[in-house]
Order: sequence, then C-alpha cells, then structure tokens
Amino acid sequence: MSERREATPAAGREAWRLCVAPMMDWTDRHCRWFHRQLAPHARLYTEMVATGAVVFGDADRHLAFSPEERPVAVQFGGCDPDHLARCAELAEARGYDEVNLNCGCPSPRVKAGAFGAVLMLEPENVAACVAAMRRATSLPVTVKCRIGVDDHDRLDFLCRFVETVARAGCEVFVVHARKAWLEGLSPRENREIPPLDHERVYRLKEAFPELVIVLNGGIRTPEEALSHLAQVDGVMIGREAYANPWVLPAFERALFDPAFGPTRRAVLERVVAYAREMHGREGVPVHAVARHLLGLANGLPGARHFRRILSEETRGREVDPRILLDAWARVRDPEEVALTHA
Ligand SMILES: Cc1cc2nc3c(=O)[nH]c(=O)nc-3n(C[C@H](O)[C@H](O)[C@H](O)COP(=O)(O)O)c2cc1C
Repeated sequence: MSERREATPAAGREAWRLCVAPMMDWTDRHCRWFHRQLAPHARLYTEMVATGAVVFGDADRHLAFSPEERPVAVQFGGCDPDHLARCAELAEARGYDEVNLNCGCPSPRVKAGAFGAVLMLEPENVAACVAAMRRATSLPVTVKCRIGVDDHDRLDFLCRFVETVARAGCEVFVVHARKAWLEGLSPRENREIPPLDHERVYRLKEAFPELVIVLNGGIRTPEEALSHLAQVDGVMIGREAYANPWVLPAFERALFDPAFGPTRRAVLERVVAYAREMHGREGVPVHAVARHLLGLANGLPGARHFRRILSEETRGREVDPRILLDAWARVRDPEEVALTHA
C-alpha cells in the first residue's frame, strides 16, 4: 500500500483539476520529473505501457519512476482483463496513484492489438477490464477515450460507453474532444484533422454530474483552462505542455498557487542535479533528460543557442550534466534579471 493514498474521486475530484497528458516517447520518467518542477499540483501521466510488455517483459524497467514525480498515473494499453489486473496490481505495489486505461489511441499497431480507440466500440469489454482492475487494486481506475470513433460520433454513443464503463466502477473519464478515424489517418493526423468539440464534453458532464470528467484537446492557455473548468472537473494539457513547458507554471498559478514563481534557471539547476544523480546511479545519459528541455527557453533571446547545445552536444555517454547550465549562459531571461536587481 502506498502512503499517500488518493482520496476517492467522490471526495477528491480536485485531484484531476490539472493533468499533463500521456504522450508516447515524450512523457517518460525524466520528462515527468521536469514537469513536476514546473507544476507542483499537476497530475502527470506516463506514456502508454502495453500490458504485454509488463506481464511478459521487464516490468521493473517499464514501471520505474521517482517518488518526486507523484501524483502519477500509469496508463496501460491492453484489452485482456487478467493482464490488466496484473498490471494494476504491480502499479499499486510500485507506488503509482492511478491506473488509466487507454481507449483513445488509433495507431495501426495498437488497433491490431485490439486495444486503444477500438475499445470504444466494445464498452462491455472495457467494463470487464475495469472491473478486473478494480478487484486487483484500490487505486482509482480511470479511462481516457475520444468523443467517438468513425461514424459512431453522436453524444448518445459516448454516453452509452461512459455509462457502461462507469457501472463497472470507473469514476473518472479523460475525454480527448475529437473523434478518431480507425482507417486512413496517421496517429498524428488523428490528433489534428477530426475537429475539436469541447461542447460535447460539457454535455457529457451534464449527463453524468457525479463522474469526474476531464477535458483534453487543444488547450493552450490558463485562460482557456479556467473557462473549461467552469463546465468540467479537470483539464489535460498535452502538446503545449511539452513543446512550451514554461506554460506549466502559468497553469499552476492560475489554477492553484498565485505565488508560484520559480525562474527557469532555478528549475534548470534542479534538473542538473537530477541528471547527475540519474547518471551516477543508473547510467542515464544526459541526453535522455536534456531532450525534454528543448522548449524551456522559447521566446527568450539565446533560445536557439540553448536548443542547439542540448540537441547536438549532450549525446555522449560521459557528458557532464553541467552542460545544461553552460547552454543557458547565453539565454537572457528578464525574470532572472529582475530578481538579480531586486
Ligand atoms: C507524441 C504524442 C504521443 C501520444 N501518446 C499517447 C499515449 O501514449 N496515450 C494516450 O492516451 N494519448 C497519447 N497522445 C494523445 C495525448 O494524450 C492527447 O490526448 C492529445 O495530444 C490531445 O491533447 P493536446 O491537444 O493537449 O495535445 C499522444 C500525443 C502525442 C502528441
């Protein structure tokens, strides 16, 4: 049993107020550690982990994370209730705060495995998966889905899916507010071409006021987030948080703590200490951490130099993490200057 047990959703819907999305190949443990420095109250999601990789592969490697990342939800991709139950059990033992089931990924590989977005066509199967996971863990079991798939794109389809899955004990739904096409679009196109329909998610919340509904898709500013939060319980930020990580402190201030104000350099110094520790303890190359920081200097003079050093000069196994601070030397951050002269 983990120490910092989450309140049940009924008592703790605040826990989902600000979430950072699961993003394959992007939100790995190092990225989440970095994001945690930028938004202390955000709920962070892992990349999707296929159940097969955990059940038949190296579970330790796939589930490793640092306690400072918490609260963290692990997202699984799978459709076998027994495998998902085993994964949920292992997730709880490792100290995760939530187990999330992916019902929104339309990639051909995932579709071939009969999980991800195709699961929206099989609500009974998803309910069986959720029920099995709920038996295996006392952590919240949650679902991330789309507003529809292919021609199944009406509100009643989404409501039927949610109602069936909620009956099995899922109380939190993260909804990417666009449908997925299972044929003909690449995963990237499926995040851009089907139009966003935030209103649809508001209607879902109206239909299920007792559930925690988190809206995802296209949110870029704290102002947008606050306006959605008048209608739903939480917002999930994906690409904007990754590409432009300095928006995260602005979300933190708007949604939780108006006084939160680290400088980018202070964050970078902490990341350097983390990179040093990971390098020393687990042999993690600096680049594995540095690659997530590329957007940190966006909008500041010197940003291009910073990005160049990070992408070109952090690759060797023995590079000293201090290179991240050296790369910052040419960045002119007015917030830092203001502090120096205060
Ligand atoms: C590179 C990338 C990888 C993604 N991987 C996942 C994933 O593993 N699981 C998932 O549920 N969604 C995944 N998504 C979708 C995001 O979680 C999110 O739903 C989508 O990007 C829309 O939110 P946004 O407009 O704020 O980016 C991924 C998105 C991107 C850009």
